[in-house]
Amino acid sequence: MAQPFVAENLETQPAAPALLPVQDIMATHPEHRRLPHDAAFGGGSAYVIDRFEPLDRAGVPIADLGFNRGDAVYDVVSVSRGSFFRLDDHQRRFAASCARMRLTNPLAAEEERAVLNRLVALAGYRDAYIWWGVTRGTTPQRTADRTDPSKFANRYFAYAIPYIFIANDERRARGADAVVSRDYFRIPPSSVDPRAKNLNGLDFAMSLFEAGDRGAEWSLLTDGAGNLTEAPGSNIFVVRNGKVATPEDWCLEGITRMTALELVRELGCEVEVRKVAVDELMQADEAFLTSSAGGVVPLNSVDGVVLGGGPGPGPLTRALHDRYWQKRWEGWHGTPVDYTAV
Ligand SMILES: Cc1ncc(COP(=O)(O)O)c(C=O)c1O
Repeated sequence: MAQPFVAENLETQPAAPALLPVQDIMATHPEHRRLPHDAAFGGGSAYVIDRFEPLDRAGVPIADLGFNRGDAVYDVVSVSRGSFFRLDDHQRRFAASCARMRLTNPLAAEEERAVLNRLVALAGYRDAYIWWGVTRGTTPQRTADRTDPSKFANRYFAYAIPYIFIANDERRARGADAVVSRDYFRIPPSSVDPRAKNLNGLDFAMSLFEAGDRGAEWSLLTDGAGNLTEAPGSNIFVVRNGKVATPEDWCLEGITRMTALELVRELGCEVEVRKVAVDELMQADEAFLTSSAGGVVPLNSVDGVVLGGGPGPGPLTRALHDRYWQKRWEGWHGTPVDYTAV
């Protein structure tokens, strides 16, 4: 059984251990070295509707509603040290996103797996960010058909590029400085269901500019009623008195969020999935973001207030950050990439 996580025990250790420099490990460790690949895929690989292409030659038909109206759903899975992480969970969430937005995935789950695997194999990546999505397609000619989902030919797009971090080693090690957006609220679930991973992200994009204007690095969005929702590309967690909480709604059900919930329990902490007020964040001992693009991202400050009374990631966040990567690299929830499938 996991021992209860007692923050004070870690705090009394002589020096806070540095976070795993994951980006540096990916760049230098032999098990992360890119495998030989066709030079055409040097800049990444893509799958456009029904064929594989080098990323730099891939494009989206300009009249596709996914491109010109954001009428699409997508997902992102990562590969590290040659293994997909929680591929089944990502595929399950993607199927749910399609269903919520009345889109039909042209590929069956097995076909999709083969496409995603081949994208990584073609580019030889041991650490990769893999995006895929289904768009509505183009508008049918007959006006009467425009409200009938079956009259659209939904299309599949995907690509693989090197792994992306929303916060690099340096920023994760010191913790990101965030602001709670004053100018933008998260789009309400009654307008666009955030559980369907979708392209309607201008609230996030604009809030990041606001964060920059206010001298911060990341933004956190509320529901307009004083509750936290999520952040650009990430879910949010607060830690207070050894208890962890994350918002229950108005957010994507992140796969890294699910992972963090499991790992935090393993560390012996109580976890609550519920409404989380901004005030709780301001009084938190620690806070962090979670994302497939970077794992666990510690927060240092919010609206200029340094969390936990001192700079840098708190002890639970540090433990969680490293455990996430160590377990992944041991193969936890991993599906090894078949690099022969090119
Ligand atoms: C809006 C939003 N919330 C949360 C997340 C984190 O989800 P996951 O952990 O599945 O990457 C993402 C990921 O891109 C996102 O776009």
